[in-house]
Amino acid sequence: MIQLREIKKTYVLGKTKVEALKGINLRVKKGEFVCVVGPSGSGKSTLLNIIGCLDQPDSGEVIVDNEKITNLNRNQLADFRANKIGFIFQSFNLIPVLNVYENIELPLLFMREQMPAKEKRAKIMQLIEEVGLKNEVSHKPDELSGGQRQRVAIARALVTGPKIVLADEPTANLDSATAQTIISLMRRLNEEEKVTFIFSTHDLSVTKYATNLYQLKDGRLVE
Ligand SMILES: Nc1ncnc2c1ncn2[C@@H]1O[C@H](COP(=O)(O)OP(=O)(O)O)[C@@H](O)[C@H]1O
Ligand SMILES: [Mg+2]
Repeated sequence: MIQLREIKKTYVLGKTKVEALKGINLRVKKGEFVCVVGPSGSGKSTLLNIIGCLDQPDSGEVIVDNEKITNLNRNQLADFRANKIGFIFQSFNLIPVLNVYENIELPLLFMREQMPAKEKRAKIMQLIEEVGLKNEVSHKPDELSGGQRQRVAIARALVTGPKIVLADEPTANLDSATAQTIISLMRRLNEEEKVTFIFSTHDLSVTKYATNLYQLKDGRLVE
């Protein structure tokens, strides 16, 4: 369902050029739990941002469900992101003034087709239960632990019913025990909700949850 063909991306800073991605080829099937592992600076964020249409490659193609997303215009890209993709970030990116419920609700407000209010509430409460935050519904992010914040971000990524969830180093700011529980929670949701996950990490201890493991090395992917 996701196919990358010869994706290249070079950053130019003054006179220095950084070839972040030198020709990435990748196929991801529906329901896979894909891990991209690599050290800092190996191009993980660049790769995930390109798959999620937050950034564009210099050359190469990204094809999702037989649609060449490298050809879409700005509006089509925004729609594609809002409807098909959920994002989870290393720094959680929650809105500080919104509580747990409101943070999870937020992506629904950007959807073209609005869900009926009752259905919306049921969906949000179901996700809050699944990520184990029933007692924290009204808490603001600064009243939560790091692991709890990432649980909110996971629920937020899933609330629109995306086909693909992209998680860029989702455990980088968590201690190792919490990192394990967060990745195993993602894996459980991947199985239950049949959502494809692609996550990146530099931490080898969480790669064991992956159904497909790739290493980013010198701007290329090795299986
Ligand atoms: N906006 C940018 N401008 C210039 N160089 C960048 C930019 N973003 C990333 N890079 C460089 O591209 C390489 C890959 O970065 P990145 O994708 O962030 O790696 P990772 O997420 O694995 O740490 C690094 O050498 C980084 O310095
Ligand atoms: Mg990164």
